[in-house]
Amino acid sequence: MYEQASHALLNDILTKLKPELEHPEMRHFYTRLGANFYAIHSLFHLLYDERDDFPAQMLALVEMLARRYVERPTRLRESDMLREQHYEWFLGQKWVGMAVYCDRFAADLSDMRSKLPYLQDLGINLVHIMPILACPSSASDGGYAVSDYYKVDARYGSNDDLEALAQTMAQRDMLLVLDVVVNHTSDQHAWAQSARQGDKKYQDYYYVFNDRGMPDAFEQSMPEVFPAHAPGNFTWDEAMGKWVMTVFNTYQWDLNYRNPAVLIDMIDIMLFWANKGVDILRLDAVAFLWKKMGSTCQNEREAHLLLQIMKDCCQVTAPGVLFIAEAIVAPSEIAKYFGEDAINAKECEVAYNATLMALLWDAVATKNARLLNQGVRSLPVKLERATWLNYVRCHDDIGLGFDDQDILSAGYEPHAHRQFLLNYFTGKFAGSTARGLPFGANPKTGDARFSGSLASLVGLEVAMEAQDERAIDMAIQTIITLHAVILSFGGIPLLYYGDAIGMFNDLVCLTDPNKADDNRWVHRYNFDWEKAARRKQPGTVENRIFSSLKKLISMRKHIFPFADFDNRQLLSVSNPNLLVYLRIDHKTRHNKVLVVANFSEEAQSLDLDEVSTSILFHRGMAKNLVAGTQIELVGNIITVTARGFLWLTEV
Ligand code: GLC
Ligand code: GLC
Repeated sequence: MYEQASHALLNDILTKLKPELEHPEMRHFYTRLGANFYAIHSLFHLLYDERDDFPAQMLALVEMLARRYVERPTRLRESDMLREQHYEWFLGQKWVGMAVYCDRFAADLSDMRSKLPYLQDLGINLVHIMPILACPSSASDGGYAVSDYYKVDARYGSNDDLEALAQTMAQRDMLLVLDVVVNHTSDQHAWAQSARQGDKKYQDYYYVFNDRGMPDAFEQSMPEVFPAHAPGNFTWDEAMGKWVMTVFNTYQWDLNYRNPAVLIDMIDIMLFWANKGVDILRLDAVAFLWKKMGSTCQNEREAHLLLQIMKDCCQVTAPGVLFIAEAIVAPSEIAKYFGEDAINAKECEVAYNATLMALLWDAVATKNARLLNQGVRSLPVKLERATWLNYVRCHDDIGLGFDDQDILSAGYEPHAHRQFLLNYFTGKFAGSTARGLPFGANPKTGDARFSGSLASLVGLEVAMEAQDERAIDMAIQTIITLHAVILSFGGIPLLYYGDAIGMFNDLVCLTDPNKADDNRWVHRYNFDWEKAARRKQPGTVENRIFSSLKKLISMRKHIFPFADFDNRQLLSVSNPNLLVYLRIDHKTRHNKVLVVANFSEEAQSLDLDEVSTSILFHRGMAKNLVAGTQIELVGNIITVTARGFLWLTEV
């Protein structure tokens, strides 16, 4: 694409824009449009060049961007300017997040405000409120089947409640994260309803087929996301008399991004919520955006191009808003969602670090850090100005998405090792105290995943029933150490509501017919506020977990080396039970923190001579940051307690 062609098209579009979009306040908009237009046009060209309505669609896109800019409240425009000035604002170590359901953590959106003090007590300043947009009451996939993208579901409140919450949070310097379910709509959405009634315009919003010909051809290469409860990728719609592509549940219709109108509508939706004060948009299931015959229909190049357009458009209208990519895919694919060829993030600034999450669970089960070390070593290098969302668990099942080669390098056979992990977490392995449930087992591929709350998975539930003090200690230590890793690894840590007070599986939810076939609900419990109150009672399990995490969170915020500027160095050590890395203050380069995590249930020692080229502890002394004590390094050896960790620095 020639820049001249872009300039000519932009000039043409500008002359056609409606006069009200020429307001003097539009100066910043036009600066940003000028800066991003060439990229937007080139990308649009790559995807939609062959269409006759190409110029009209480009005009529609720019007009929509301008309209949403006109509407953008002054407070948010000012925040955009500030964030543009301090463009690395989200890489700092001050951010600590949590994912919550507004109706299971609070009563609804307006009640969320009364729960902010709990979050702030823990040190949380970024809140992902799980899907709240209008969706059917039964078939909703936990809100991921949206029937109206412009409306908060009445069960949770109103758009005004959301805006009010966003403002309150902004006053408290807290960030709000909201989902945009970009890949599919509910079959109850107006677009799907029109398609059903035979409207060709809206049938073109989805992948619909008259007979099994195309679906069968697609199925040859498409994996199944929910093989157990929603097998296959297509659903027959009786009313429409056609097959429709439904990669997730049968009632979630995949959107057809080969149609530019879908893309423009979706960007409009993103900007609508950006204008309501959402700081970060979590883009759901982004790996699935582009379907191509003969491929897995995941991680296609065009999916990346779409995300780049979305980002460029957002930069024009709401440049302070970040994107989180939810792409739970192979380790080598995940980092591509930051944008591949650019210096700055050109797709999503933040991506779920599903690889680290899965590796941490491997370490919990194997009680060593062999695969963890291997996997962290293989983590792809990411762009500057891009960061991970590091988490121990989220609202979804836990998949064993590591690389087979890494499993082999760690000394295991991939199939047998995955089977062991599944048996371990579902409590079938001898001696395991985990209480997970198998999820999405696919006998055809051997793929298996599991559900379960953190506390139930690490054995706290079993230990407490048995009143086994040592096992209780071990489980609590495990919870704390897992968090010590995500808090120090580099990236934004995202906690899951209930984990800081050790909530167990909720099995009662499985008696609800709408939830029974999807056991992810066992860890989507109603937050237990009575249990939460016990966090203030010294000696209780809740107090032990909560106060430890609270302390670590508050410490993280003051430890500059924990900011994410690609300043982590993984250190190879001979003790296979340990994960050891160094975090280095990217500005001074002097200030360093050595992180040592022990996954064994026995105390372990680290020979500092093995890592001494990276960090020098003078006069045989080191400082244990968390305990606030000085350690004398006898023989240059340090000891880490069972399932414990250390954050060490020079004295
Ligand atoms: C994402 C969500 C998950 C949902 C799926 C389909 O993976 O996290 O909960 O089932 O997308 O929308
Ligand atoms: C996600 C992931 C998959 C997960 C599913 C439902 O997008 O691709 O690993 O199991 O949706 O939770």
